[in-house]
Amino acid sequence: VPFSRRNFLSASAAIAAAGAAGCAPTESTAQAPSIGIAKAAQFVVGTPIAFSYPDPQSPALAVRLSKAAPHGVGPGSDIVAYSRLCVHKGCPVGYNAHQESFVCPCHYSAYDAEQDGQLIIGHATTSLPRILLSYDTHSDLVTATGVDGLIYGRINFRTCFART
Ligand code: FES
Repeated sequence: VPFSRRNFLSASAAIAAAGAAGCAPTESTAQAPSIGIAKAAQFVVGTPIAFSYPDPQSPALAVRLSKAAPHGVGPGSDIVAYSRLCVHKGCPVGYNAHQESFVCPCHYSAYDAEQDGQLIIGHATTSLPRILLSYDTHSDLVTATGVDGLIYGRINFRTCFART
């Protein structure tokens, strides 16, 4: 049987449907959820707030930077958020408030929190996936609305690789 896009997609679906420990296989076509993180007033510069996006198996960090960022939200355009899973092998990155960067404890890849998660150094080859945020001036709420980049361990926005 010639390999086709259809074959590939059905194979991918079968892999995803096989089940994943710690990573729920969900519909790849599902819309990005909107998940409230915290009010902007609750963000303290340098102290990240943990949340999950787009599902509980995907840890993320939101942080207020010391100055406005290109895609920052909130009154000061200084709140940004990223997947916590290093794109090299999935270790959870930590936040270095002094350098305003995310650093992986496994092989020391570092990502720039101000510049869209751009890789600074390390084994990773792409930026840290950025969580898209919206801000409501009325409620002061910062909400996650999507992802720019491929979260580690996934074949698309919502579907995880099968893991044993
Ligand atoms: S898992 Fe992060 S650098 Fe290797």
